[in-house]
Amino acid sequence: MRVGMLTGGGDCPGLNAVIRAAVRKGIYHYGDEFVGFLEGWRGVLDDLTMPLNLETTSGILHRGGTILRSSRTNVKKIEGGFEKCVEVIGRHRLDALIAMGGDDTQSISLALSERAVKCVGVPKTIDNDLSGTDACFGFDTAVSIATEAVDRLHSTAEAHNRVIVVEVMGRDAGWIALTSGIAGGADVILVPERLIDMDEVCRLVTYRREHGKKFSIVVVAEGAKLPEHTGQTSVGTGTDAFGHVRLSGIGHTLAEEIERRTGYETRSVNLGHTQRGGTPTAYDRMLATRYGAAAIDLVHAGRFGRLVVLRGTEISDIPIADAIAKTRTLPENLLSLIKGLQPLRDG
Ligand code: F6P
Repeated sequence: MRVGMLTGGGDCPGLNAVIRAAVRKGIYHYGDEFVGFLEGWRGVLDDLTMPLNLETTSGILHRGGTILRSSRTNVKKIEGGFEKCVEVIGRHRLDALIAMGGDDTQSISLALSERAVKCVGVPKTIDNDLSGTDACFGFDTAVSIATEAVDRLHSTAEAHNRVIVVEVMGRDAGWIALTSGIAGGADVILVPERLIDMDEVCRLVTYRREHGKKFSIVVVAEGAKLPEHTGQTSVGTGTDAFGHVRLSGIGHTLAEEIERRTGYETRSVNLGHTQRGGTPTAYDRMLATRYGAAAIDLVHAGRFGRLVVLRGTEISDIPIADAIAKTRTLPENLLSLIKGLQPLRDG
């Protein structure tokens, strides 16, 4: 078969491992040929390609980013965009297309599936918030980076008797904040699933001082909101092609407010894209490899319009439509774990 591949949306460590696994299994086991579209859906629209074979995918397993590069190109916003995609896919005589991406990228896969393009999806988001799968590759790497940062910030916070607020990624769900916050022993963890209660944040910081510790670490997801703000804290007025505002700054706002209310010297750090950079962890390489091999198996099983997913320890697949129907936010049991590790209000 002739199979196209692309990576769309924000990059994630592990994308190259998916590409490598699908190409190796496709060539060794099915005798497939591959075409790599560059820069997400832009590559399909503008017919930007590179060859994907054993040579071009050699030595990429441990590399972050994506050899196909990525973009947030939204085909829906381009007049005649879908017709153009169908034409280019036809010109390359492709039997199937494997798209690696989150809900935005997969919404295009779904629309193309409805136009008879044979699409298979691979779930990819650093935020780990795609429904129907227990994990997205890249998340484990991001959590390791954020946890290491929280560990490192402890010593400098302690040396200066400071509160340090660490802003991490997580637009609509607080998976990175919760996991790195708990793993890093943060005193306060704030996530998009709950409005920020400033009185409670200051109570927790003050409690720590009154009980012998002279510093505090606060971890906040970029998408966490203060009740008085109507939306998430964003940088400038920029939005991407899918209409998402560019988030940034809640950590800074919080730091100013904590210092103003408590009098404790406070600093903020925004980890930003550092969390998406560099080499994937062994866990992410393994998960990504399983997804890549499963994606090419799905193609050969003729199971199109579907997304490979992890359920418990098993790889399975679900309709793309189900995966993008809603955001996978933090479950109640994990949210209450945060509370369980903090002093009670009257404690
Ligand atoms: O959607 C994943 C994500 O990493 C979000 O956590 C973040 O808000 C956004 O992408 C950043 O996007 P960009 O790379 O376009 O700045």
